[in-house]
Amino acid sequence: MPRFSLTLVLAFFFFKSYCFGALQYGFYDGKCGSSDVEDIVHGVVNSWCNIDPTRGFDVIDDAKAAVEAVCPGVVSCADIIVMATRDAVSFSGGGTYNVQTGRRDGLVSLASNVDLPPPFISVSDSIAAFAAKGLNVTDMVYLFGGHTVGVAHCSNFQDRLYNFNQTGGPDPAMDSLLLTTLRLRCPQNSSVNNTANLDQGLLSSTVVDTSFHQQRHSSD
Ligand SMILES: *[C@@H]1O[C@H](CO)[C@@H](O)[C@H](O)[C@H]1NC(C)=O
Ligand SMILES: *[C@@H]1O[C@H](CO)[C@@H](O)[C@H](O)[C@H]1NC(C)=O
Ligand SMILES: *[C@@H]1O[C@H](CO)[C@@H](O)[C@H](O)[C@H]1NC(C)=O
Ligand SMILES: *[C@@H]1O[C@H](CO)[C@@H](O)[C@H](O)[C@H]1NC(C)=O
Repeated sequence: MPRFSLTLVLAFFFFKSYCFGALQYGFYDGKCGSSDVEDIVHGVVNSWCNIDPTRGFDVIDDAKAAVEAVCPGVVSCADIIVMATRDAVSFSGGGTYNVQTGRRDGLVSLASNVDLPPPFISVSDSIAAFAAKGLNVTDMVYLFGGHTVGVAHCSNFQDRLYNFNQTGGPDPAMDSLLLTTLRLRCPQNSSVNNTANLDQGLLSSTVVDTSFHQQRHSSD
């Protein structure tokens, strides 16, 4: 084989593995001296879960700060999100799994670039919004399962309780018991922006399980 084509083959191999095979289990092993990056993140998430499991993205900042303190400039935020999510799922009863790491962070981070589907869109619009990101219906249903824990501010769905689609009344498709429950939690014209559990199961709102999907199914 002529030398140049071997070089091309090798270049292709490395290029290909860089693009498609860069993620791996234990990517940070040995990259931070004797510190175990996954252990550090795990510890931070553990302490958060013991304080308040429903708090938000600040845990990522805390985990990033803890990692940077011992290993500056090595571990990406993208990987910390993946590791911290894995640990939060596990602490919430969702089981354990390993994650691959080795993601790079983007060079630009602007709130104005965030493009999330809003909470009021229809199922077909939601399928289209996920498809636009290369995610299919199966992916969408899995990702919606993330609503098994967490909260939403009343302001995100208040219109469905009191003034659905400018009708002056609630969403007629809404379960009446759910409507009553949510109205107590989110009083009309209240100056307080309460939160409501995404998973309305009394015992399962902080547990990673299938109850969110079961509630969706039973309300169909
Ligand atoms: C969605 O994509 C995943 C993997 O990319 C695949 O396993 C699954 O079968 C797909 N689902 C549908 C409904 O196409
Ligand atoms: C909202 O109201 C408009 C105008 O009456 C109507 O065309 C539309 O179908 C309604 N949307 C929903 C989700 O009910
Ligand atoms: C909330 O405000 C609307 C519009 O001002 C009013 O029609 C309604 O009666 C108020 N509801 C309560 C419970 O105060
Ligand atoms: C309620 O809180 C959410 C989340 O912080 C925010 O996006 C929303 O604007 C707030 N709404 C009101 C009416 O304060």
